[in-house]
Amino acid sequence: MATQLYRLLPLLFLPFVLFRHGASPPPLSQHTVTGGDPGRHPVVLLPGNTCSQLEARLTDAYQPPSPQCGAAKGNGRWFRLWKNSTAMQDPELAPCLSDQLRLVYDPVARDFRNVPGVETRVLGFGSTRGFLADTPANQDLCMGKLVEALEKGGYRDGETLFGAPFDFRQAPAALGQPCRAFSQFSRRLRALVEHASRKNGGKPVVVMSHSQGGYFALEFLNRSPLPWRRRYVRHYVMASIGPGGFLLSMQLLASNPSAALSSGSAFIALPSPKVFGPDAPLVVTRARNYTAQDIPEFLTAIGLPRLAVTLYQTRALPVKLNFRAPVVPTTCINGVGVPTMKELVYWDGNFSKAPEVVYGDGDDLILLESTLALDTVIGDDPRQEYYKSIKLAGTSHAGVVSDGAALERVISEILGVHE
Ligand SMILES: *[C@@H]1O[C@H](CO)[C@@H](O)[C@H](O)[C@H]1NC(C)=O
Ligand SMILES: *[C@@H]1O[C@H](CO)[C@@H](O)[C@H](O)[C@H]1NC(C)=O
Ligand SMILES: *[C@@H]1O[C@H](CO)[C@@H](O)[C@H](O)[C@H]1NC(C)=O
Repeated sequence: MATQLYRLLPLLFLPFVLFRHGASPPPLSQHTVTGGDPGRHPVVLLPGNTCSQLEARLTDAYQPPSPQCGAAKGNGRWFRLWKNSTAMQDPELAPCLSDQLRLVYDPVARDFRNVPGVETRVLGFGSTRGFLADTPANQDLCMGKLVEALEKGGYRDGETLFGAPFDFRQAPAALGQPCRAFSQFSRRLRALVEHASRKNGGKPVVVMSHSQGGYFALEFLNRSPLPWRRRYVRHYVMASIGPGGFLLSMQLLASNPSAALSSGSAFIALPSPKVFGPDAPLVVTRARNYTAQDIPEFLTAIGLPRLAVTLYQTRALPVKLNFRAPVVPTTCINGVGVPTMKELVYWDGNFSKAPEVVYGDGDDLILLESTLALDTVIGDDPRQEYYKSIKLAGTSHAGVVSDGAALERVISEILGVHE
């Protein structure tokens, strides 16, 4: 399935999607929330990569790669672009899907945008329904089990429980770099948080993110005025993310460099020099090693143009270096104790080949080093009054929001049992 997806959608950069699943979690009834508390704080959820659903319509400006891809041109109708399993599995429609999902970098606007003639929108902003897509796998990956458990405990979608899906092909860009997608998302999330609070007697909200949603939530919080954060955010629960990025994003880039410039998020998860120092070789070849400080050289070595290096240095790296305390009460929850990519060995320097992988400790995506760095980056910030890091032994990246015991832990944090 994974290889098929990559073949059909070579441009779709999916660094946060995990195709490996552990043992299935215990039945849901085991983590029912104690309900009926009228004093509960509203909850806003941000899911991981590829969980949000996208709709598209094609205008006359669209230049389809084949006539079939342009069949819906100009009819004004919105259709499901992601996740569209029918199109994904149809050999004639799959290239259309690839073309329409692709982003292009516009050097005049200095921003990523859709291919001309493709308009997109996120489905169901405000609700958790949008990201509980039709595929059962999303139940595990996309907070489906968490939503179910919260609803069993009395939370109601649109009343006390809200969803903030986002265009996962994009990523927050550094301050001063245009990023229409993130600006628009931030405006909508701000309005949603205020709405959720208003609907619940003015109570501040609990924001909870999983994986890639954490980049959006953290940047959103950090760019919101401090008085606003203090007024509206009671607790931020950040699952399965650290300030360090991860090695899988290097491997995906090496195996498919052409995808790098068709996605606005290809560089956001590259290992950060803030966490991985000048001595830790991440990519090993006979001729030379690449550390987190050598990412520009690595991007050049895998065949990317100068523009890619510039975009990494100006748009992505400053965001990573600026991963910082949100200055609202924060709990970080990460899996540990699962083999996680630590070094990629391309001994003969051929990046088109599958590398040999050296494993370390982590959640199967995020290394323990990155999780531990949360303690210094967020925990040691003197402005950060409440910070807690929960490390769940033997829990995977996706398991944090789907395995039984992990879910219970997450839910008790959401409910404020931490105080
Ligand atoms: C899936 O994609 C195909 C081809 O683009 C389109 O015709 C169809 O309407 C889409 N499905 C949904 C549910 O929108
Ligand atoms: C690359 O890193 C490995 C350790 O993983 C080390 O043994 C080797 O000497 C390094 N090579 C160079 C050229 O620095
Ligand atoms: C690199 O590896 C790929 C895949 O195995 C192969 O097709 C290609 O010829 C190799 N390139 C060189 C320069 O050896």
